[in-house]
Amino acid sequence: MTIDPDAVMAQVNRRVFGSFVEHMGRGVYGGLYEPDDPSADDEGHRTDVLALVRELGVSIVRYPGGNFVSGYRWEDGVGPVGRRPARFERAWRSIEPNVFGLDEFARWSAKAGTDIMLAVNLGTRGARQAAELVEYANVTGGTRLSDLRRRHGREQPYGVRTWCLGNEMDGPWQIGHKSAEEYGRLAFETANSMRAVDPTLELVACGSSGRSMPGFGIWDETVLVHCYEVVDLISAHSYYDPEASDLSSFIASSAAMDEQIRHVLSIADRVGRKKRMTKRLGISFDEWNVWYMGRHEAQGPNLEWRRAPRLCEDDYTATDAVVVGSLLITLLRHGDRVALACQAQLVNTIAPIHTEPDEPARRQAIFHPFALTSRHAVGDVIHSAAVGPTMQTRVHGEVPVYDGVVTRDSTTGAFTSFSVNRSTTHQLELVVDLSSLPGARVVEHLILDGGKTTTWEPRPAPWENASGEVALLLPPVSWSMLRLATT
Ligand code: AHR
Repeated sequence: MTIDPDAVMAQVNRRVFGSFVEHMGRGVYGGLYEPDDPSADDEGHRTDVLALVRELGVSIVRYPGGNFVSGYRWEDGVGPVGRRPARFERAWRSIEPNVFGLDEFARWSAKAGTDIMLAVNLGTRGARQAAELVEYANVTGGTRLSDLRRRHGREQPYGVRTWCLGNEMDGPWQIGHKSAEEYGRLAFETANSMRAVDPTLELVACGSSGRSMPGFGIWDETVLVHCYEVVDLISAHSYYDPEASDLSSFIASSAAMDEQIRHVLSIADRVGRKKRMTKRLGISFDEWNVWYMGRHEAQGPNLEWRRAPRLCEDDYTATDAVVVGSLLITLLRHGDRVALACQAQLVNTIAPIHTEPDEPARRQAIFHPFALTSRHAVGDVIHSAAVGPTMQTRVHGEVPVYDGVVTRDSTTGAFTSFSVNRSTTHQLELVVDLSSLPGARVVEHLILDGGKTTTWEPRPAPWENASGEVALLLPPVSWSMLRLATT
């Protein structure tokens, strides 16, 4: 691998280290909020979870859903807790007590050190209620809803900048599912109503909810024909199920993410050109993760209406963590156009953090590549070129065995190389040519060995120095992080 330190591909956008909290399963109740837990603070927030969220290095959190938002009345979740209604929640068939809502989430976010990204309900509601939520959240005072927020104890507006115009509206599972024409019109109208309240908003249109959707591509194009002018980003979602394909295809999941990003961008740019717009849209990849979705589907609908049922509490392996690491590599490589990304989700439900009542919160295997990438991918994404073997996969065809990205922190001169060996059978020797990095020396090399399902955490691993290069052995199915200091 050669590195060209003068060729900056993109800035490392901190917002790619976003996450997602949905009122789904034990994500909120029993996850962020559990007043009876020994670790809970005076607002019922689990402090052990807060500490892990900070360690994970999450930058921004999308809230409150997901499918949940398409039936949600945000007013139910504000004001005196004793007066809030419990409701049947239709997306996940549970009881929503509404004890935790926007004001609680904002206070939790301040403790976690994360920015807020909100989604509005375009399933059962429309432009008026979305604009009202912006008024509640972002107007200083002197109007009915901004004064209501102040009466609820929050003087200053929240200043939430980034908003999703609905969620996965192309999905037949979505409450209030719409055709692309219907949604595109509604997104246009809603964007204008919200911006009339706060012109500084950054707005995300719902792209297609996945590459496997029959309307993928056509949906995005039709929606953008209606609303390109008034949105800034288009969303992309993708989950990778370890049990849906063969191992090699699963390990190479980032090839599918890469293709999805290119595809969505090419459609958005085509619409932009046809409309003679100079503005180019970015992608908000606001749901991505490894998800054992087949297991969830096999369970069928949750027939017992309960508060915070255990839903999709996947137990992750080191192999899953390698895939998460390589998905982050892809998001970083597309840093010029992927403006934001949210791992879905944060706690318990499809999540890197797991809790049980009265037990300390714990890190799942997928926690580690996220935390390390968020901590060490700083500054710029630098051009690097790797020459190496390819492999055949059933789902993605022929793909390179090596997947990687290099970043440089220009304030310290530190370079970090994130690498994945996708081979399920062979170790890979990675030889990094250091001739373009004067005085480079290795500070740290960590390997997460996905072939060893009992090894959850990245471990220090050896390297060999030769003149002007450093060589690493990457085991089959592994993720590695090499940190270099330069003079
Ligand atoms: O993250 C779980 C669900 O996956 C979300 O609610 C939905 O948007 C997606 O289908």
